Amino acid sequence: MLAILYDRVRPDEKMLFERAEALGIPFRKVYVPALPMVLGEKPEALEGVTVALERCVSQSRGLAAARYLTALGIPVVNAPAVIETCGDKWATSVALLRADLPQPKTALATDREEALRLMEAFGYPVVLKPVIGSWGRLLAKVTDPWAAEAILEHKEVLGGFQHQLFYLQEYVEKPGRDIRVFVVGDRAIAAIYRKSPHWITNTARGGEAANCPLTEEIAQLAVRAAEAVGGGVVAIDLLESERGLLVNEVNHTMEFKNSVHTTGVDIPGEILKYAWSLVS
Ligand SMILES: Nc1ncnc2c1ncn2[C@@H]1O[C@H](COP(=O)(O)OP(=O)(O)O)[C@@H](O)[C@H]1O
Ligand SMILES: [Mg+2]
Repeated sequence: MLAILYDRVRPDEKMLFERAEALGIPFRKVYVPALPMVLGEKPEALEGVTVALERCVSQSRGLAAARYLTALGIPVVNAPAVIETCGDKWATSVALLRADLPQPKTALATDREEALRLMEAFGYPVVLKPVIGSWGRLLAKVTDPWAAEAILEHKEVLGGFQHQLFYLQEYVEKPGRDIRVFVVGDRAIAAIYRKSPHWITNTARGGEAANCPLTEEIAQLAVRAAEAVGGGVVAIDLLESERGLLVNEVNHTMEFKNSVHTTGVDIPGEILKYAWSLVS
């Protein structure tokens, strides 16, 4: 029995439930906020569960549940280590470096003065991101030292502890879009362009999805990036730059509702079949 772990039913989870039904995969919806995670005990909701697909919107909740199920001997897609790496942009960057994959020039500062010094050294504009976050939120394209000073001060004074790490990147001139590749196991199954007049191209921020043909180059790079973070079901964000394709980000609980129709690929079905194949 496959457990689909969730906390909120987005259109994506609805699609997963419907596809699991249609594919005849025996599954159970497990609402994580109501799952008693007592060590040394197995909750009733997990009786007969042999594999799980983690789909929580809350990253900390998803990670906590993935750790618990793994400890009970139930394999989880994605594995806790993959969630940890993908959930933290600095951890992802370090993993990509270890795998020797191309990425934007990136640095981390833990101090405001050092952040300013690094930004100066990178040359403006510089992109500043929270290490934990998604949907394009709290990203800044910093164009000069005065803007940098103000943003860093705001982060220090108003931000929580997560905002005391300053993740910096060169600003990559991209052609009005980026590429999102869906990787399931060792295969890239689909890709979309996300086009936007805004430099932040997330569909959550108004970026428009269009099919992106899966070239050998795109597929290979995406699969290598997936391997770099430990594999599983992930979405890789690529930037087209003058130096060629760069890996910008790896997402571990990807949304795909806009991409199924756009690509013609049964993304939820592929995810389910992969998870189910781990035990059958
Ligand atoms: N260094 C960069 N140069 C140019 N564009 C960027 C850069 N970093 C991010 N972007 C744009 O912002 C979007 C969101 O950035 P990303 O790092 O994926 O954060 P999130 O986790 O919020 O999606 C990317 O899809 C891309 O369009
Ligand atoms: Mg992203």
